Amino acid sequence: MSLAEPIKLTSLSTKGGCGCKIGPADLMQVLRSLPPTVPNPDLLVGLDTSDDAGVYRLSDELALVQTVDFFTPIVDDPYSFGQIAAANALSDIYAMGGKPLTVLNIVAFPISVLDKSILADILRGAGDKVKEAGATLVGGHSIDDKEPKFGLAVTGLVHPDKVRTNAAARAGDKLILTKPIGVGILTTSIKKDQLSLEETERLTTVMSTLNKTAAEIMAPYGVHACTDVTGFGLLGHASEMARGSGLGLIIRQEDVPVLPRVRELAEKGFVPGGTKNNYAHLEGQGSILYPEEMDQLSRYILCDAVTSGGLLIAVAPEQSEELLNELKNAGVEAALIGEVTEDHPGQISVI
Ligand code: CO
Ligand code: CO
Ligand code: CO
Repeated sequence: MSLAEPIKLTSLSTKGGCGCKIGPADLMQVLRSLPPTVPNPDLLVGLDTSDDAGVYRLSDELALVQTVDFFTPIVDDPYSFGQIAAANALSDIYAMGGKPLTVLNIVAFPISVLDKSILADILRGAGDKVKEAGATLVGGHSIDDKEPKFGLAVTGLVHPDKVRTNAAARAGDKLILTKPIGVGILTTSIKKDQLSLEETERLTTVMSTLNKTAAEIMAPYGVHACTDVTGFGLLGHASEMARGSGLGLIIRQEDVPVLPRVRELAEKGFVPGGTKNNYAHLEGQGSILYPEEMDQLSRYILCDAVTSGGLLIAVAPEQSEELLNELKNAGVEAALIGEVTEDHPGQISVI
């Protein structure tokens, strides 16, 4: 690799723009085929409700929050890739109301093909985000692999009474989303050289922003449920909240913040396979009630696979305005996108 021709990191990723997540249908099929695990009263959040992280009670005062996330490069700049992968992994701790404590690096890298400085840059980017999160790197594991992959296993702490699951939304709650969507379509567009430097930087900033500020701000509020929007898209993660809570959600399409040019690039055909899978999976479940006149691209955008997305927060209606304002004042790109209802339990009505 000559110096004049810098390596395009995303070209080493064999799959679409969203980091090659195994689709929800395949994943559920595998998980269902496993023998039931022995019930443990200290396992406060396990696999049952498709939540962001596992929560295990150590004492009446303290529980562990554990999660792991890694994926193939979604941007070409190695430092940014490290930042994004770390922000994405840390996010699941924030989505549970926890505070990140320690992290482990997970590394796959073609060490004989790529310059070692690329891996160093990835680790440096992640390290800076871990530091920003106030967490401590305690170790990791690396393998030699044709396709680079990177992520973190993260352990956090939470008070057992303060866990924010995705399964306890209440009827009447307002829904706040803390980052714009459209990330899967834009990262796919990066691979096809469709984004300007400025557009790539804007997208990188969105993805590498920690959900720390949003999580800290929501802590004292009457937040009944929280999850982060990642691989299964806004509607996929919202539908987990609806099913987990046994309630319906209403999402107002025009209020959902979408990154610039997403619609145009979707029209040009840059909708990743993962996004189409998300849409098809939700259709198969009959989870989403779309307005009849809503076109296919608009539906794909709401299902678009996200990397390191924002928090989806269900908050008591009387506190929603104040929470929204506090988030906005702190620079969080938050928006009120809908509400929780007793109607159509387990389903989302898009209006
Ligand atoms: Co999550
Ligand atoms: Co995750
Ligand atoms: Co949560």
